[in-house]
Amino acid sequence: MKKAIIDLRSDTVTKPSPQMWEMIKTMTNDQLGDDVYQEDPTVNALEEKSAKIFEKEAALLCTSGTQANLLSLLAQTTPGDEVLFETRSHMALYEVGSASRIAGLSPWLYQSNHGIPDVEALKKLIRDREDIHQPPTTLIAIENTHNWYGGKTITPETLKLLREFSDAHFLKFHMDGARIFNAALALNRPITDFSQYIDSLMFCFSKGLSCPIGSMLVGSRKFISKARKFRKMLGGGMRQAGIIAIFGLVALEKPWIDRLKEDHTNAQLLARLLNEQQDLFQVEIPDTNILLVNFPRKTPMSQIMNQLAENGVLALNIDNQIRFVTHYGINSEDVIKVSHIISDIIQTL
Ligand SMILES: Cc1ncc(COP(=O)(O)O)c(C=O)c1O
Repeated sequence: MKKAIIDLRSDTVTKPSPQMWEMIKTMTNDQLGDDVYQEDPTVNALEEKSAKIFEKEAALLCTSGTQANLLSLLAQTTPGDEVLFETRSHMALYEVGSASRIAGLSPWLYQSNHGIPDVEALKKLIRDREDIHQPPTTLIAIENTHNWYGGKTITPETLKLLREFSDAHFLKFHMDGARIFNAALALNRPITDFSQYIDSLMFCFSKGLSCPIGSMLVGSRKFISKARKFRKMLGGGMRQAGIIAIFGLVALEKPWIDRLKEDHTNAQLLARLLNEQQDLFQVEIPDTNILLVNFPRKTPMSQIMNQLAENGVLALNIDNQIRFVTHYGINSEDVIKVSHIISDIIQTL
């Protein structure tokens, strides 16, 4: 018999919900059109709904979060500009250098306090536009929640400071909000408390919201129409894309967004159980659905990863850290099982 896998590598492994399958089963050709001509009613409905939720003028369905982040750079900067990325952010580390290679930008990395930028420190990074030697700084990006700081949330109060900072230095302000709904739920704040301070925001359907494909970019009408043209340039002009968008329409219903809280509860449960069951490390209780476990130096990490896999548990390992992400495919029983497996492995080290 095939062994059950508990896949905690990422919330991107999620598959569609029964409600999503119901929607797709009843879909007809009337709900599809050519989206390059902006004639797909389902895509149009999803873009309108997204813009409304974030209280922005317009939205654009993109193939992925990586594409949407790049579009925000292409549409809001000029080649040769300098842009500010957080050191451990997805845009800095995991987007194949597209900011430089495709958008022609120089990324300048800023340090943060677990993903939370310090405005005073940022001020020192702004280039002098009058100096003939220096490129202009024109955009700052933040990640909320921050993936490699364990799903850390950035509060609307910090965003307000960053807005003021951006205005003072003529910067565009972009949020990689791949998991922004997780942040809003964890902080118990409406999504517009976040989006009001941002020029451009990307969120993903394909992560905790469990859709198979797609991310959305929201912002002003002018920004979105520029981004739309760049999306075509990058080969992202899709035709009957309603077949993708239909999943998003289910995902943006309140109960489905609220379901993300279960993922937070499960990640927090895993953290608490691990703290109770073993002495090798203590973990911080995560804000959202991403738990980072730091093992002491010299821990045989490959041995741990192999033993986890032998027990049907998948996770991501970088250096001495293992990342566990909870999602729609994981319940509290899985989490309890994983905590015991980890504690047992630790006994054998
Ligand atoms: C914070 C963050 N931003 C952007 C992305 C990119 O999204 P995609 O995989 O859809 O390109 C990811 C993907 O994991 C992510 O975690």
